[in-house]
Amino acid sequence: MQTSRTSAPPVLELSELGKTYGRGDKAREAVRDVSLVVRAGEVYGFLGPNGAGKSTTIRMILGLIRPTHGQVSLFEGQGDGRRALQRVGSLIDGGAFYPFLTGRENLKTLALTRGLASAPIEDLLDRVELGGDADRKVKAYSLGMRQRLGVAAALLNDPDLVILDEPANGLDAAGIQDMRRLVRALADEGKAVFLSSHLLHEVQQVCDRVAIIHKGRLMQEGAVAEILRGEQILRLDAYPQAVAHQVLQATWPVRPDGGELAVSAAPGDAPAIVRRLVQANVDVLRITPQEANLEAIFLEMTRDSDV
Ligand SMILES: Nc1ncnc2c1ncn2[C@@H]1O[C@H](COP(=O)(O)OP(=O)(O)O)[C@@H](O)[C@H]1O
Ligand SMILES: [Mg+2]
Repeated sequence: MQTSRTSAPPVLELSELGKTYGRGDKAREAVRDVSLVVRAGEVYGFLGPNGAGKSTTIRMILGLIRPTHGQVSLFEGQGDGRRALQRVGSLIDGGAFYPFLTGRENLKTLALTRGLASAPIEDLLDRVELGGDADRKVKAYSLGMRQRLGVAAALLNDPDLVILDEPANGLDAAGIQDMRRLVRALADEGKAVFLSSHLLHEVQQVCDRVAIIHKGRLMQEGAVAEILRGEQILRLDAYPQAVAHQVLQATWPVRPDGGELAVSAAPGDAPAIVRRLVQANVDVLRITPQEANLEAIFLEMTRDSDV
């Protein structure tokens, strides 16, 4: 994980971005007041459960749908929208390819239709590790191979901002690792990478900063390490657990978790917790600070939704 590069120029700024689909009775607010900044050379994770508003936000960034309110600014507003979008590469919905053409033919066709005849197709194929499969028809590709071809397509214009919507979808563990390596390499070249995921563990390791979006709103935003510092959980193994739960919940948020209780409290609260439990005739078998874990924060924040 890299430190955040607060001095690098912003390549993407969202200001109070919002989108409501439909009108009247059917109106549905999919994104509300989303503000964030993505800088050159960083990997920015946009995380949230299914239906959180990630793809809607990405479609607004790419100019595919119009925001209901707020603004998208690319490259500090230099050039008009269309010009700016020429410096953006994107993968959404896994990319769309001709199944009866090979991977190489698909990239060549895309490059031609986008006026990028000199795009380094062979390099890109190697980069996403499709060199050996470039002459196979895309209909014979696995989902992971299609995703990688989609990333190659996103890089045809050598973009300064790469936007990947759920690039790890359908990938196996090895595929996810390859994707992480590729994403990291792009950022290390100075590109900004904005990637979404509904599964935090897929992206946690590769992101410099993350934003967590839930029901259209940003719940938290910042360097992964910063977000982790805000999280303090004590794991408690006590008997009878139901009594422990009842006794503690008056003072600390408590929830059952993996056969134990997860108590939202600082490590310094442990003696007070133990005293309280002993007074209530509860046996304390173990109390330990939980290792900082972004996944836990993410789950906690998005618990009431069907991820
Ligand atoms: N074209 C659309 N028309 C109406 N509602 C939509 C449309 N696209 C998405 N939504 C709704 O907006 C919300 C956010 O969807 P989406 O941005 O696709 O979330 P995510 O990508 O995080 O899964 C969901 O409730 C979804 O049903
Ligand atoms: Mg989506």
